[in-house]
Amino acid sequence: MGGRLEHNHTNDDAADILAIQTAIDMGVTHFDTAEVYAAGYAEELLGRAIKKYNRSKLFITSKAKPINFKHDDLINSCKQSLQRVGTDYFDLYLLHHYSASIPLAETIGALDELVRQGLIRNIGVSNFTKEHLADTQNLTKNKIVCDQVHLSLEFREPEVTGLLKYCQNNDVFLVAWRPTGKGKLAKDAPPIVQEMCKRYQKTPTQIAINWLISQDHVVTLSKTTNIAHLKENLGAIGWEMAIEDIELLQKEYPNQKDVSDTVKLG
Ligand SMILES: NC(=O)c1ccc[n+]([C@@H]2O[C@H](COP(=O)([O-])OP(=O)(O)OC[C@H]3O[C@@H](n4cnc5c(N)ncnc54)[C@H](OP(=O)(O)O)[C@@H]3O)[C@@H](O)[C@H]2O)c1
Repeated sequence: MGGRLEHNHTNDDAADILAIQTAIDMGVTHFDTAEVYAAGYAEELLGRAIKKYNRSKLFITSKAKPINFKHDDLINSCKQSLQRVGTDYFDLYLLHHYSASIPLAETIGALDELVRQGLIRNIGVSNFTKEHLADTQNLTKNKIVCDQVHLSLEFREPEVTGLLKYCQNNDVFLVAWRPTGKGKLAKDAPPIVQEMCKRYQKTPTQIAINWLISQDHVVTLSKTTNIAHLKENLGAIGWEMAIEDIELLQKEYPNQKDVSDTVKLG
């Protein structure tokens, strides 16, 4: 929302704010943003949208970009993100990507300091391999609660690398980004998904999201500015597919990929 890596000055801010507020009114509590999204403008939009709501009922996540992983830079980054969102704390704060150029121990020390100061309540990582996730857990006094990574019916890297199993075995949430393949899964549903749509009387997007959250320790993030899509996507929860169907989709969904052909920065 608000642009990709730069602020898009032609963005329809009112539509984004309305979508966030409608989501809250419909019971959504978790909002995911990052300092890199629209160069901080996405955080500002979120801040404007949540102003009239009770902050304590929301769960807000933001992320720091690797260039800010030195100790003092990370503390400053977090404070600036908090200011843009207009809140005193983040429920969850993530390292957006692994960085090989700044010692992980220094960055984790800063995250622990942010927890100590009460500016963040939980820490996590994003786009980390299972090895980097394990290293991170060994360096912090706190718990690494999640790894936010690309996972969908179509994109299976975390299954193939064992990251998903690692998360399930170590009580870490895998937060799946791009659950609908940016809307693509709604348009080109293969026969196996169409069959599930008929069986459960759901849309392809609802099947794609439900399939993710039916898995142990998997939650997901879905982005939309379109209120009809918001309602559709919320219809992905509150019901369950049979285990055989979950497994069938896992095995038989066609053209599964485990290497990203999209831009890495999310
Ligand atoms: N950590 C990372 O590196 C990273 C990377 C990417 C994303 N993320 C996070 O994950 C969130 C979701 O990921 P994403 O935006 O890449 O993927 P996504 O939620 O799969 O796709 C969003 C796109 O799909 C469209 N869409 C949503 N619901 C739809 C529906 N029911 N029917 C048709 N089209 C639909 C949206 O358009 P409309 O707005 O028109 O509905 C939007 O263009 C992001 O907002 C971000 O918070 C994190």
